[in-house]
Formats: sequence, structure tokens, C-alpha cells
Amino acid sequence: MFNLILFGPPGSGKGTQSEKLIAKYHLKHLSTGDILRSEIAKKSKLGLEAKKLMDKGELVPDEVVIGMINDALENNKSAKGFLFDGFPRTEVQAAELDKLLAGKKSSIALVLAMNVSEKELIKRLLKRGEASGRSDDANEEVIKARIGEYHKKTQSVLKHYQKEKKVAEIEGEGSIDEIFQRLAKAISKVYKEK
Ligand code: AP5
Ligand code: MG
Repeated sequence: MFNLILFGPPGSGKGTQSEKLIAKYHLKHLSTGDILRSEIAKKSKLGLEAKKLMDKGELVPDEVVIGMINDALENNKSAKGFLFDGFPRTEVQAAELDKLLAGKKSSIALVLAMNVSEKELIKRLLKRGEASGRSDDANEEVIKARIGEYHKKTQSVLKHYQKEKKVAEIEGEGSIDEIFQRLAKAISKVYKEK
């Protein structure tokens, strides 16, 4: 298995670049944000509980997202590899992911960490908020709360992978294609396409 983590603050382009990466490398895309939004759309108990936190820009509890990832790994046993988007977001989640993958005799190959200035993140998310229905893009206060959670709880997750020399820092501003080329170049250093 070849497993990647696409890492970065809200609005850094994780979802956008994931679409291109899964097509090129034939990976299964696992976005905890997308799974949570599909639970909200279904009006499940989990979704309705999560929505209260997501609308405030706060993280949902670790055990909720770890359970979702565990289910997704179990349900995709034939996957060639996984692209984790928006997960892990805390050190507890990172440690659990290592354990889940070790149980499958696998591990994370590379963490692609996209760097985007706060000004650009807010600009992108406010722009999307005008058109899309994502309630957590609706106002600047919630966007800033999401960025705050990232600095408080998520950014330090990188250290977990830096210790293992698995992090590639990627300049996340520029055109979508330029950024994709930077990601592909970093991947080519650890993964040879057959
Ligand atoms: P999640 O869905 O993961 O959202 P997020 O991290 O806040 O970030 P986004 O999905 O908004 O941004 P993105 O980085 O994917 O960028 P995108 O490509 O969309 O999480 C939502 C919530 O769910 C969390 O707040 C939390 O409550 C909960 N949650 C999820 N996972 C969790 C976890 N593991 N633990 C606990 N809670 C969890 O791009 C953004 C915009 O910019 C788009 O409009 C796009 O078109 C545009 N754009 C992209 N690239 C460019 C570019 N190069 N130039 C200009 N515009 C661009
Ligand atoms: Mg996203």
C-alpha cells in the first residue's frame, strides 16, 4: 500500500488537490470532513452531533473520526493505498492512524504539508462561502475559529511525522496546476510509478 497525508490549514487546497492526486496515483480518498458532511446530509445522530461543533469551527471528538477512518479502512481492503485529507488533526489521531495501518502491515509514506498565508486562506474561504452551501464558510468569525483550531491542535501533528522524516513542505499558493506539479515532484522522490 502507498499511503499519503495531505496536510494543511482550512482552505489550503486539500480537497482540490486530492481530486487530482487520487486520479494520478489511484488512491482511495478519505476526507473526514466529507464523511462528516455526508452524515449531516443523512441527518444521522453522529452527523447532527458533529454539525454543532463544525458550525462553530471546532474539531469533533477524536473517537468519532478515528471510528470513521477504521470503518473506511475495513471497507476498502482492496485499495492500493489511501490519501488522507483532513486527518489526522490531533496527536491522538496520528498515533491511532499509525496503529491502524501497522495492523495492516502498512504505514504512511509521505506527508505533504501545504503552506498558505492566513490572508489567502480567509480570502478563499469567504469566496467559497458566497456560493457553496458550506455553513462553516459563512462568516469570517467561524473561518478564523477553524484556523485557530488548526494552530492550537493540528499544526503540531507535523512534528510526529518530522521525527520520521516523512514531511515534504509545499508552497500552497499559485495556480492549482502549479501546486499539483509541486506535490507530484515531492511524491516522485518516494514513489516510482510502474
Ligand atoms: P474539513 O472538511 O477537513 O475542512 P477544512 O480543513 O476546514 O478545510 P476545507 O475543506 O475548507 O479546505 P481544503 O484545504 O480542503 O481546501 P479546498 O480544496 O476546499 O473539516 C471541516 C470540519 O469537520 C472541521 O472544522 C471539523 O469540525 C470537522 N473535522 C474534519 N476532520 C476532522 C478530524 N480529523 N478531527 C476532528 N474534526 C474534524 O479549497 C478551498 C477553496 O479555495 C475552494 O473554494 C477552492 O476552489 C479554492 N482553491 C483551492 N486551491 C486554490 C488555489 N490554488 N488558488 C485559489 N483558490 C484555490
Ligand atoms: Mg476539504
